[in-house]
Amino acid sequence: MKKLVFASNNAHKLSEIRAILGDRIEIISLSDLQCHDEIPETADTLEGNALIKARYVWEHYGLYCFADDTGLEVEALGGAPGVYSARFAGEHASFEDNVSLLLERLSGVAAPRRARFRTVIALIDEYGTHFFEGSVDGEITLERSGDHGFGYDPIFRPEGREETFAQLTEQEKNSMSHRGRAVQKLVRYLQALP
Ligand code: IMP
Repeated sequence: MKKLVFASNNAHKLSEIRAILGDRIEIISLSDLQCHDEIPETADTLEGNALIKARYVWEHYGLYCFADDTGLEVEALGGAPGVYSARFAGEHASFEDNVSLLLERLSGVAAPRRARFRTVIALIDEYGTHFFEGSVDGEITLERSGDHGFGYDPIFRPEGREETFAQLTEQEKNSMSHRGRAVQKLVRYLQALP
């Protein structure tokens, strides 16, 4: 069985990918590698940060690896917070702080306040470096709704739905989400490998 590191300790993302891949490919997490390093995400693009994380594992452990990075791109803010989504309201900002700041920055901007979530996965394997992208268009609502999910979910309404991501079940969100779409592309690539 092939082994691949997923440069993440997010238990939810790990179990989702393991479930999809079944026993074709063994997915190893950073904690399985006893890697507790803060990998610096210093690039100014999602592609760059995903690649930094994948490359870190390849260079330090000599193992093939993939990593993801996600951003929320808001049209009225010229694509911000984008690659800085996790730290929009400051280095150790909570989801709550980030959501409040985004609503504040958009106050006075008329609906629809168009936005999209974008995820990039970088994979380093025996064939080279590959990128897989997934995105979902939608809009930033005027106020929070729903209590599922995380991050900006309570104020992001995907196109074609009346609910925010935080009002959908996990399964519904995964079936249309930026990350779900990027993961599907990665999985299709991995499943087609000899
Ligand atoms: P990460 O690259 O997956 O860690 O995502 C960076 C930041 O984007 C997170 O800290 C969240 O604020 C936001 N984010 C990523 N994915 C989602 C999502 O599915 N829903 C809401 N916010 C998200």
